[in-house]
Amino acid sequence: MTRVRFHSGDQLPLEMHKVRIVQKLILPPVERRLEAVTEAGNNTFLLQNAEVFLDMLTDSGTNAMSDRQQAAMLMADDSYAGSATYTRLVTVLKDIFGMDYFLPVHQGRAAEHILSQVLVTEGSVVPMNFHFTTTKAHIVLRGGAVEELLTPAGLEVTSTEPFKGNIDIPALRKLAAERGTAGIPFVRVELGTNLIGGQPVSLANIREVREVCDEFGLLLVADASLLADNLWFIKTREAEFADASLRDITRLIADQCDILYFSARKVGCVRGGGICIRSQELHDRMRPLVPLYEGFLTYGGMSVREMEAMAVGLEETMDLDMVSQGPQFIRYMVDELDRRGVPVITPAGGLGCHVDAMRFLDHVPQEQYPAGALASAAFIAGGIRGMERGTLSEQREPDGTERLAQMELLRLALPRRVFTLSQVRYAIDRMDWLYQNRHLVGGLRFVEEPDVLRFFYGRLAPVSDWQEQLVAAFRRDFGDSL
Ligand code: F0G
Repeated sequence: MTRVRFHSGDQLPLEMHKVRIVQKLILPPVERRLEAVTEAGNNTFLLQNAEVFLDMLTDSGTNAMSDRQQAAMLMADDSYAGSATYTRLVTVLKDIFGMDYFLPVHQGRAAEHILSQVLVTEGSVVPMNFHFTTTKAHIVLRGGAVEELLTPAGLEVTSTEPFKGNIDIPALRKLAAERGTAGIPFVRVELGTNLIGGQPVSLANIREVREVCDEFGLLLVADASLLADNLWFIKTREAEFADASLRDITRLIADQCDILYFSARKVGCVRGGGICIRSQELHDRMRPLVPLYEGFLTYGGMSVREMEAMAVGLEETMDLDMVSQGPQFIRYMVDELDRRGVPVITPAGGLGCHVDAMRFLDHVPQEQYPAGALASAAFIAGGIRGMERGTLSEQREPDGTERLAQMELLRLALPRRVFTLSQVRYAIDRMDWLYQNRHLVGGLRFVEEPDVLRFFYGRLAPVSDWQEQLVAAFRRDFGDSL
C-alpha cells in the first residue's frame, strides 16, 4: 500500500520528508573497492566507512533524526539525578505503552542483560519466536536456553505468509505444559523478527500468546526494537486493524505484555534503550542493576540529549508517514530484485532487504560462507556494505566443526529516512549485475578466526582469484565508470 498514488500508475514509494542535512558520499573505483575489502579481511564490519558508498550494514543507530528531535536535544536537562529530561521521557513512554514503570539503559542488549540476570536461572528455558544474537548470549550466560517456536512458514525463504514471525501456539502450549511455570522465566516475542528477515508478528498471535501465558502463569516479554516496522505490517496486513491508529495498535500490543524492552538505536531513531514494566514487583527486582551496570536511574548510561530526542522519536513512531517509509522502500527493493529473478526473502519484511545467498551462490558450499562471499562481492560490485547473516555469524560446535546456519542471508539494511530512491535503485542494479555474474563469485576461508563472535573481528581470504575476475567483468561491462 503506497499512501500516495501516481497518476501514471507507477508503484513508487514517496518520501514524506525532505532532507536538509546531508553527508557527502564517496564511491571509490572498483579496483580500490577490491583493495579495501581485502584490507578488511573480507569482513564488512572491518571496512572503513569513508570508503563505503551505501552503508547498509544495519539500521542500528544510523536512522535519520528529524528536525524536531534535533531541536529537543538543545533542551536537555543535564543533571545527574532528578533530570527534567527523564520526567519528560517517562511521560511519553507511559502515554504510548501504558506501563507504570520505566528503567533506562544504554542500548537494547543492556535491557537483555538486566532481564536475564533477574529472571533467567540455570536450566531454565525461554520460549520465543526466534532468537537475536545478543538476547541468546545473555540467556545462555545465565545457564538458560532458548527454544525457538516459529510457525513453520517462518523459515520458508519464499512465502506469501504475511506474519512469518508468529509463534507456534500449540508448540508453546506443549512446552509450557512440559516445563511448567518454574522452568520458564518468561516468554519472549520479538516484534519484527530480526534474523529471519525482519518478519512481523500479528496482533492476533500476540493475543494468543497472552492466553497461553495466562493459562500457565507465565510472564510475557516483548522485544520492541523493530516495533515501527511491525506496526506498519499489522496495519496493512491484518484486516482487523486497517482503520486503527498506530497509537491504538501500540497500546493493544503493550496491553498484552508484562515487560516491553527496546533498542532505541532502532525504534526512536537515537542511541539508547529502555525497559517498560507493568508491575512494581518486577521493577523493584530489576532497578538495583541499573545504577550498577548502566548509570543512575534517571539516565541509565544514555546522554540526556539522546533521551530528549528519544521522547520525540517515539512520538514520531506513532505517525504513519514516518513508519511507512522503511517498509515501503524495503518492499520496493525486494519486489524489484524478485522481479529480476534475484533470490530474496519474501514477503518483504522490516529492517532491510534480505538476499538469499544459499540460492544466489548455490555453487558455493556452506563451509565457504556464501553469505560472507556475497557481502564481499556486493562491496566490490557497488561499494555497498551489507551484513552477513549466515554460517559465519554462528559459533563452531565444541568439537570445532562448523554449525551450518539454517539460512544464508546477505542483509542490506535500509536505515529509516537515510537513502533516496535512486540510491536504492542503484543497489538493485548492482545486485542484479552481480546475479548475472554470480558464477564468478567463489567462497571464502578464515585466515584469522576469533573464538567468540568471530563475525565481528574475523578475517577471511577468497578461496581462488574470483575477486580479480569479478573486477575484470565489471570493467568489461561498465567501462571506466565508477
Ligand atoms: N533486539 C533486536 C530485535 C535487535 O535487532 C537488536 C539489535 C537488539 C535487540 C540489541 O540492541 O544493538 O541496541 O544492543 N540489532 C542490531 C542489528 C545490532 O544490527 O540488527 P542493541
